[in-house]
Amino acid sequence: MYQATSVSELQQYVQHWKDHEESIAFVPTMGNLHQGHMSLIEKGQSLCDRSICSIFVNPMQFGPNEDFNHYPRTLEEDIEQLEAIGCDLVYMPAASELYPEGLEKITQVKVTDLTEIFEGAHRPGHFTGVATIVLKLLNIVKPDISVFGKKDFQQYRVISKMVQDLNLEVDIIGSETTRDSNGFATSSRNQYLSEDQKSLAPLIYKTLEESATRIAEGETNFKRLEKRAIERLNQAGFETDYFCVCSAETLKPASAEDRRLVILVTVLLGKTRLLDNIEVDLG
Ligand code: PAF
Repeated sequence: MYQATSVSELQQYVQHWKDHEESIAFVPTMGNLHQGHMSLIEKGQSLCDRSICSIFVNPMQFGPNEDFNHYPRTLEEDIEQLEAIGCDLVYMPAASELYPEGLEKITQVKVTDLTEIFEGAHRPGHFTGVATIVLKLLNIVKPDISVFGKKDFQQYRVISKMVQDLNLEVDIIGSETTRDSNGFATSSRNQYLSEDQKSLAPLIYKTLEESATRIAEGETNFKRLEKRAIERLNQAGFETDYFCVCSAETLKPASAEDRRLVILVTVLLGKTRLLDNIEVDLG
C-alpha cells in the first residue's frame, strides 16, 4: 500500500492511475478504523480499480466542548488493517497542509436545510466542518466515487446534497451499516460501553426493525409509533434524544405520502451517544 502525506505526492499516484484509465474509489475517515470502515473500502473496491483511504482527524468538525485532543489515534493499527484488505493508498495529511492559515481563515461550506436538525442541532457547526473537509478532500483526490456509511445517515445526506448542489463530478455511494449478529451497529463509540450496556444495545435496532415493519404493514400514525418506541427505549434504560420517522430525502418529518422513509434514532447509553437508523422503502 502506498502512503502519502502531501497533496503533490498523493496526486502523482492518482494521475498515474488516471493515465492508465483506472477508476478510483475514495473513503475519507478520521482513523481508529474498525470493521465498518473496512466494509466502506471493500464497497469501493467492488466498484473501482483503485481504493484510497484518507485518515485525518478534522479539527473543524469538533465543537469547543468536544474532545478533539483525546479523539483516539491508532495510526499503526489502521495502516495494518488497510494493508490487510488491499487498500491501494492511504493519505494522511497534516492539519497544516489542509488548513495552512488556520481554521479561522478557511472558506466554509454550509449545506442548507439538512444541517441544523438532529446531529446538527446537537453539535452546532459540525456539518459545516464535515462538508468543508470533504469538499477539500474530494477536490484533492478527484475520485470517481466516494463511499460513506449510512450509519451516519444525516452525514451521508449532507454530503450527497453538497455534491448535487455544487455540481461535483463524483458519485456518492451510501454503504449499508455493519452490524453484529444481534443487529447492533458497529461504531468507534462501542468501545466505551460496559458489558451490561453492550447486552442492552441491540434493542436499538430491534425497535427500529419493529417500527419499520409496522410502517411497511400500513401504519401511518408516525407520531404514535415514535412515542411508543421512545417509551420502550427509555424504559429499558436508554435516554432517547430523538426517534423520528423522516423523509429519506429531506430528513423532514415524514408524511403519509412519502414513499422513501428513514427512521433516525439517537440514544444515550450511560455517557455514550449511539446513532442508528433504518430505511423503509414503500415503493
Ligand atoms: O465520518 C467521518 O469519519 C468524518 O465525518 C469524515 C467524513 C471523515 C470527515 O472528517
